Amino acid sequence: MRSGLVRSPSCPHPGTVGSGTGAARRSRGRFCFAFAFLVPCAVARGDLAIDLGTANTLVYAKGRGIVLNEPTVVAYNTRTRQVLAMGQEAWQMIGRTPGYIVAVRPMRQGAITDFDIAERMLRNILQRCGVTKFNRPRVLVCVPSALTAVERRAVKEAARRAGAGAVYLMEQPMAAAIGAGLAVHEPQGSMVVDIGGGTAEMAVFSLGGVVALRAIRCGGFDFDGAIQAYVRSRYALAIGERTAEWVKLAIGSAYPYTGEREAPVRGRDVSTGLPRTIVLTPEEVRAAVEDAVQQILSTAVTCLAEAPPELAQDIMFDGIHLVGGGSLLRGVTQRLANATAVPVHLVDLPLECVVMGAGRCLESLDQLRPVFAQADR
Ligand SMILES: Nc1ncnc2c1ncn2[C@@H]1O[C@H](COP(=O)(O)OP(=O)(O)OP(=O)(O)O)[C@@H](O)[C@H]1O
Ligand SMILES: [Mg+2]
Repeated sequence: MRSGLVRSPSCPHPGTVGSGTGAARRSRGRFCFAFAFLVPCAVARGDLAIDLGTANTLVYAKGRGIVLNEPTVVAYNTRTRQVLAMGQEAWQMIGRTPGYIVAVRPMRQGAITDFDIAERMLRNILQRCGVTKFNRPRVLVCVPSALTAVERRAVKEAARRAGAGAVYLMEQPMAAAIGAGLAVHEPQGSMVVDIGGGTAEMAVFSLGGVVALRAIRCGGFDFDGAIQAYVRSRYALAIGERTAEWVKLAIGSAYPYTGEREAPVRGRDVSTGLPRTIVLTPEEVRAAVEDAVQQILSTAVTCLAEAPPELAQDIMFDGIHLVGGGSLLRGVTQRLANATAVPVHLVDLPLECVVMGAGRCLESLDQLRPVFAQADR
């Protein structure tokens, strides 16, 4: 049954602050210098919303839209702790740096794992969005609902130290639902499933509140990890996380699809240490990721089953809205529709949906402050 499923192509990353021709940058630099005392920051005067994801970090500036979209990766010198690159540039370095330079992800499964590096990365991000000592905007950070109180405090503290004025937290499923354009304030049930890099969250909403919520620390990175583990155990070949992700994007799926083809994969032989190439089939990759896919599907089924019958009926009619990069794995919409017997809609911009929702909330930050306080628990 493919009816009721809406797919959209994955979207390219939009440009970031600071892009443009050299001449344009130079002229902007002159403008900022000339008015530096009058306008402490000509770039960012408004509030910011940040989706600090395990895989990608996005920033939405009030009145301007998405101004930064980069992988959540930092490259730094382990001798000096100096941050050398962040985002796309650092991502290119993963697995390719000399011993004293490491490219790391400071977030795992939605939580900060390296506080110092996360703070430096946030500072870098905020600076790129125009935050200075004299211009400390209010920042709304989207966090996974599964974060503990300690982990939430770590996010707030890191953002504050990195240059934010006031910091508010918003739970990701609510931001995703608003970003997907769902009428969460209506007396009508709606459901969102967000499959990110390190987490999968599902929630049912009605009258502006969360009626049922489930979150697990499993997402796109677990698909990559499963592919790495499979190749190692079946072919005695070690492949890096970038290669595993490439395999997933090239031929990975959760359900058979038309036009399946094999893919050659290069890695390092575990016993000899020499490079070797194998050929992987889509069936093998599908089997490798099945456990992780199944875990996400069964959590979504449990969440739907927890919704009161009236709301479940609304959802059966309106369908489930699927967001997050992990939901772009081929066949996930189909599998979720089969598992829940409910139509599933993949939103138009699955990777940007959370930050777009948080961005909308920036417009009414003052009225919504009590809601964000709840996310601070
Ligand atoms: N076309 C695609 N097919 C399969 N997976 C994809 C595709 N595009 C992106 N992904 C995966 O989506 C994941 C990133 O999604 P997303 O940016 O929503 O995560 P995140 O918000 O950073 O993580 P989290 O919400 O768990 O903290 C990565 O694992 C990436 O490999
Ligand atoms: Mg996310």
